[in-house]
Amino acid sequence: MSKRLVVTVLGAALLVVRAVAWLLEQRRSPSACPYSQRIFLDLPRPFMRREALCDILKPSPGERLLEVGPGTGYYSGHVARELAPGGSLTVLDLQPAMLDELMRRAAADGIANISPVCGDAQALPFPDATFDAAFLVATLGEVPDKPRALGELRRVVKPGGRLVVGEGQPDPHHVRSDDLRKLAEAAGFRAAERVGGRLGYFARFVNEGDEVIG
Ligand SMILES: C[S@@+](CC[C@H](N)C(=O)[O-])C[C@H]1O[C@@H](n2cnc3c(N)ncnc32)[C@H](O)[C@@H]1O
Repeated sequence: MSKRLVVTVLGAALLVVRAVAWLLEQRRSPSACPYSQRIFLDLPRPFMRREALCDILKPSPGERLLEVGPGTGYYSGHVARELAPGGSLTVLDLQPAMLDELMRRAAADGIANISPVCGDAQALPFPDATFDAAFLVATLGEVPDKPRALGELRRVVKPGGRLVVGEGQPDPHHVRSDDLRKLAEAAGFRAAERVGGRLGYFARFVNEGDEVIG
């Protein structure tokens, strides 16, 4: 084997080892997708289309909805349009740069019913029962304390309101639908519907109401 081939093979092997180590680290200690990687958020999503999200979320004119972890707003504008007239979408993200970009894009598209809030899914800055529905896509896996985030979502969604969670591949933080269902039920949501498969799914839950969850 030539020296050049040996160097190439060793280089490729090192890259694979580093990639696997990064994936394992991300699963152990999840962290938010950095703004510098936002280009990946604009890629087409044949298995998690915007129309499929709206079909299962059913946003209606006049409703008040919350999106947690909108990033640059792949889904936000599409949902916000369905809420007009009279409704609004609040988008909450850890990273102000993501929210700034989202609001720039919304303004360019003539969408005026989105309000940005910088905050953490684990401590939502809203009163109880504020929203008719909430949704989050490719975000729950990045949240370190998922039960706490789902508990917060249950608190701010009205009793009987909807929660839609979307998860797709490839994503080092992917939450499997079985795991999501257990987490959501433990937080007081009832599983209602799921569409999609291994490469991408949306699952809808209903806030069971006021009984205390132990
Ligand atoms: C992978 S991006 C997905 C963005 C968007 N939902 C999409 O599908 O294009 C995840 C987003 O969730 C945000 N995020 C991660 N952890 C969060 C947390 N604890 N609270 C609020 N936002 C969070 C990140 O800042 C990032 O914008």
